[in-house]
Amino acid sequence: MFIDVPNRFTVAPMTRTSADEHGVPTELMGDYYERFAKGGFGLVITEGVYTDDRASQGYANQPGIMNAVQADAWRGIVERIHAAGSKAIMQLMHAGAQMQHNNYVDQPIAPSAVQPKGEPLSLYGDVPGWLEPTEATQSDLEHALNGFVASAKKAQEIGFDGVELHAANGYLLNEFLSTHFNQRNDEFGGSLDKRIDYVEQVVRAVRAAVSDDFVVGIRIGQITVTDNDYQWPEGETAAVKLVRVLAEAGVDFIHTTDTTVDRKPFANGSEKTLAEVVATETNVGLIINGGIDEANYADYAAQFPNALLALGKKALANPDFPERFKAGDTLADLDFQMLLPKATLENEWKWRAEQGVE
Ligand SMILES: Cc1cc2nc3c(=O)[nH]c(=O)nc-3n(C[C@H](O)[C@H](O)[C@H](O)COP(=O)(O)O)c2cc1C
Repeated sequence: MFIDVPNRFTVAPMTRTSADEHGVPTELMGDYYERFAKGGFGLVITEGVYTDDRASQGYANQPGIMNAVQADAWRGIVERIHAAGSKAIMQLMHAGAQMQHNNYVDQPIAPSAVQPKGEPLSLYGDVPGWLEPTEATQSDLEHALNGFVASAKKAQEIGFDGVELHAANGYLLNEFLSTHFNQRNDEFGGSLDKRIDYVEQVVRAVRAAVSDDFVVGIRIGQITVTDNDYQWPEGETAAVKLVRVLAEAGVDFIHTTDTTVDRKPFANGSEKTLAEVVATETNVGLIINGGIDEANYADYAAQFPNALLALGKKALANPDFPERFKAGDTLADLDFQMLLPKATLENEWKWRAEQGVE
């Protein structure tokens, strides 16, 4: 196992836009994360945390880790997770084209000047439409890479057990892999190898900047927050190549995400799932995510005996999912009212008080 966890129940990264206006985590966020650890999750992965003082922030009230004040506030949270007996991994995220609010710059950067499909996510704040991104320059890409590196070092300093680079769901690193977002003609665009190149450089730089025992992983998937149909045109070949490159670059784990773990997502009609590609093509750790619930948990746990199982919506609905699951208690489905009109912790706490749910 790539991390010494008490069990395989893992909280998937979930953006809650509940930091203060300067991206500093709050006491309430500490209550929120500690609750999962106390509820029996062996590993807590944080929401996507922004990494630099330019275009990485995607949402108003998103937490950051790009200065000492933000980092210090995270220190208290990670201590609470550890005190409850769980491990903590911080997800590092650069918004790329999916920037809905940013305290530092007015315009997103993306591999090419291409907007996301669909509409912005009102769950994270109302905005009239997607902004027009600029094609990232070499200097933009260096700044973003340095942001990932500096953030990983800070996460290590303040006591996190590891970081997860967010290369899924349509954010910057994912966009480099995507032929929708990445229409570059330079060394970072065009062929599959070139589309993977920037992601590889970021992984290598982060891996080299932290100590060997600090966990460095990456989250991958084809779907984005507004496009459940996107497929890499090379199909399974793209996934095989990508995970081999990531393993070679030194990741400790790959976290796969899809609408469901068992979906066969590839363009060429392959019978494999993304999780199966990682399990068969690499020896790195595996975290699986997508539609895991009380009905399928045991089957997935048996199918992927070395994987951690990451729960999103089921964890939100049941912060004590592991305890309840083991006891055979009933488990709730997520009531989206809890996250409306915005996915803040304040709204969740209000909803819980109204419903009389702990
Ligand atoms: C409110 C909410 C916020 C999310 N924020 C993030 C995020 O910050 N980073 C990320 O990688 N995925 C994020 N996701 C996706 C989840 O991690 C997960 O992939 C998705 O919910 C599917 O898993 P599930 O079926 O267990 O819910 C978010 C999901 C939800 C419901």
